[in-house]
Amino acid sequence: MSTWAEEYRPKSLREVVGNPSAIAELEKWALSWEKGVPDKRAVILVGPPGTGKTSAALALAKDMGWTVVEMNASDKRNADAVRSVALRGAITQTFSDTGEFLSTATGGRKLVILDEADNLFGREDSGGVAAIVDTIRRTGQPIVLIANDFYALSRRSSSLRSLCRTIKFKPIHPSSAKAVLREVAKAEGITVPDEVFEYIGDHCDGDLRAAINDLELVSRGETSIVTAAVDAIGARDRESSVYAALEEIFRSGDARRAKESVRNLDESPEDMILWIDENVPLDYRRPDDLERAFRALGRADEYLARTRRRQQYGLWAYASDLMTMGVSAARQGRYAGGQFMFPQWLLKQSRSRGRRQVRNALASKLGRHLHMSRRTVLTDFLPTFRALYASDGDFKFAVTLDLDLDEKEVAFLLDEKEDSHAVRHLLERVGQVRGKEPAPARGRLEAVDEDSDDA
Ligand SMILES: Nc1ncnc2c1ncn2[C@@H]1O[C@H](COP(=O)(O)OP(=O)(O)O)[C@@H](O)[C@H]1O
Ligand SMILES: [Mg+2]
Repeated sequence: MSTWAEEYRPKSLREVVGNPSAIAELEKWALSWEKGVPDKRAVILVGPPGTGKTSAALALAKDMGWTVVEMNASDKRNADAVRSVALRGAITQTFSDTGEFLSTATGGRKLVILDEADNLFGREDSGGVAAIVDTIRRTGQPIVLIANDFYALSRRSSSLRSLCRTIKFKPIHPSSAKAVLREVAKAEGITVPDEVFEYIGDHCDGDLRAAINDLELVSRGETSIVTAAVDAIGARDRESSVYAALEEIFRSGDARRAKESVRNLDESPEDMILWIDENVPLDYRRPDDLERAFRALGRADEYLARTRRRQQYGLWAYASDLMTMGVSAARQGRYAGGQFMFPQWLLKQSRSRGRRQVRNALASKLGRHLHMSRRTVLTDFLPTFRALYASDGDFKFAVTLDLDLDEKEVAFLLDEKEDSHAVRHLLERVGQVRGKEPAPARGRLEAVDEDSDDA
């Protein structure tokens, strides 16, 4: 199944969003071919990813009724093949890449698209640049070079610069990105809260492909996106740093770097293990690598369970080491990794989603009460608070009453099920007291603080 980004690729230049002057320049250059071979036989489209460079080249060919000879140079092993096709295709004029006969006399032109050209010619290999320069000089057919990094391409050759018209693509403006996202959602018939468009549009860095991919991720398999998805996206800044950490763990080959990578993450080991667990099979290809990785994760999980049971948060460090260094060391094969996944089941699995939500809501509540940021509560305060809550009956009672905790929150703090005896019993007692007295004028939690100060 193709991705939405592919499905909604603009079919005509008119559908390419943003960069109006670049598009106009491209079109003008194409029209100049109608009067014969123009002065500039090639253009270089330069700009950051996801701004529509490839789309514009393809759309141009479609608008002009030109055949496309498209070559992607990102696979370096194909560099030689690409070069020879570029030369043959561009010069002989008679066959398309599928072997179809094309007569220039009948108006059939071929647009040679050399995508990701900076990959092909950005290396030591200067012969490649010479070949392309030569091709451009001799071609009877229009050529589009596409590059993210103009410097990698042009420093090789000043003739390349002078032979081509350079057309710059800029990042797509957030408001345009949001408009595209809305259209995609409409075409897909999905209902998306406005915050989702807003958030993705504001955070995609002008990369429309990334924006559309994000929209597809959060809405996959659902016709109506629920709040949980908004929460998940809301955490995307964090998520992207998680991806960076995963990369260190899986690919650096360096256990120390793997360990360091999670140090500054605002992720508890309990969440981090979900991320690693979800992504390890996407990245590790050798069965023995996978087996070692899962064994390390298994042990990390045991430490986490012990941490929860005994409220010994010092054990978190071991769990964390096992899941980072252990998983890093597990990989012995050398191979390209896969693409990391947003853990869908963080969204779908109601238990972990519930836990996260309850934990975060509780942290906010405590933060308001204690004048601490939610983050500080999560990282520094909650573990101790939870231990105290579980072990001290009076404190537990006072806090539950004062913060008006519900069964979800109590269950989270006690690590019990919502309908367990411990949770029900506590809430019943609190309910009895609450029933008897009017709402207190001041916080009971503060009263507890004062009591302990007095003591
Ligand atoms: N300017 C744009 N207008 C409309 N869609 C775009 C635009 N830029 C990117 N996209 C979307 O992102 C996908 C990838 O764009 P692409 O043209 O390959 O970007 P680039 O070549 O600049 O990396 C397209 O298939 C399309 O869905
Ligand atoms: Mg591209």
